[in-house]
Amino acid sequence: MEKIINDVCNIVIDNSYKNFMPSVYEFNNKDIEDLSKININEIYDEVLIISDENVYNHQIDNFINNIKAKIVYEYIVLAGEDSKSLSVYEEIIKYCIKINLSRKSLIIALGGGVVGDLAGFVASTYMRGIDVCQIPTSLLSQVDSSVGGKTGINIGNFKNIIGTFYQPKFTYVNIDALKTLPNKEFISGMAEVIKYSIIYDYDFLDYLINNSENILNKDNETLHYVVRKCIEIKADIVSKDEKESGLRKILNFGHTFGHGVEKLCKISHGEAVSIGMNMAFKLSLEKGYIDKSYYDKYIKVCEKFNLPLKFNISLYEDEITEEIKVNINKEILEIMKNDKKNSFGKINLILPIGFGKVKIINDIDEDKILNIIKGVNNA
Ligand SMILES: NC(=O)c1ccc[n+]([C@@H]2O[C@H](COP(=O)([O-])OP(=O)(O)OC[C@H]3O[C@@H](n4cnc5c(N)ncnc54)[C@H](O)[C@@H]3O)[C@@H](O)[C@H]2O)c1
Repeated sequence: MEKIINDVCNIVIDNSYKNFMPSVYEFNNKDIEDLSKININEIYDEVLIISDENVYNHQIDNFINNIKAKIVYEYIVLAGEDSKSLSVYEEIIKYCIKINLSRKSLIIALGGGVVGDLAGFVASTYMRGIDVCQIPTSLLSQVDSSVGGKTGINIGNFKNIIGTFYQPKFTYVNIDALKTLPNKEFISGMAEVIKYSIIYDYDFLDYLINNSENILNKDNETLHYVVRKCIEIKADIVSKDEKESGLRKILNFGHTFGHGVEKLCKISHGEAVSIGMNMAFKLSLEKGYIDKSYYDKYIKVCEKFNLPLKFNISLYEDEITEEIKVNINKEILEIMKNDKKNSFGKINLILPIGFGKVKIINDIDEDKILNIIKGVNNA
């Protein structure tokens, strides 16, 4: 078991759920002399676990055996982004009222980023805020969404347009949970893992390339190293800029570019991010911020993890209108212009400017950006 603790984050990284209960004690400042005497009922009157159907089927037995609370409720949502909605939020709040969840109760978010964002938002707003523990079960949520305290739900196509900054009591990461994660989701999470190496730690990029086989085979020790490294980076960034007034923005590397592709091309978030990072690399190369060898290394790491560098509209023809198809590059640019991370009408782009270093740049011409988009359109 390892811990990463700073002014903002409390994180436990483990290879099973067995240390969850002692962690509840520890982060509530209770001494544990005898593990067998741990009694969650001394700390919380009720526990509500929020999860989704897939995670529930694969993880709950394993997890729940470790909780010895008298009163444990479960609220299981449908898997997928649609559950981050106002209507699901309202249903959960009504359920909290029905079961008499109080300010002395605990919400546990057991699942991927969808469950984490939704349950975090519920916890941060119910009775003006009650304790929440994040237990991330997807690679993306372990390395990213469960750390740093962002919560949120969507309104229509506007992602995370309502949300809060609300730190969990602690985040408990069980690496072993990744064993039941579908491969497609695992690969999607790898795009975020690669992101950390580009924004913060160049040596880590070499590690990912040299250990790709072990990572793909979900070797325990290797996965533990990878997840811990990403969490260390995220926790460090968040401790320096909790509310995203500056440095934290670099975590959006690849996301602004990838946003339009994700919206229009029905690909996974990770695939969109890897294409988005490719666009950023191409622009940096064109501007002379980086040399070709660095860009080649980025291509290599994506190939190792089977992540795409270009989007291919023909694959998704049925899903979008003729009008959008004809103007797809411009449509992607329009979505980038509407990104909520922009300010003063300028597109904020995070671009690599050296090994393991990025910079926020907001004075790139729209024509130049459009050209870059054309360059990754396979059509
Ligand atoms: N709060 C933040 O800082 C932050 C950061 C990045 C992303 N996000 C949000 O995270 C969400 C995406 O997260 P995600 O990729 O984890 O998606 P997700 O929560 O939808 O999980 C992906 C899929 O994997 C399944 N799953 C998860 N863990 C599993 C396990 N151990 N075994 C079997 N199946 C499992 C889920 O049921 C789901 O079908 C988005 O809504 C995004 O906005 C938030």
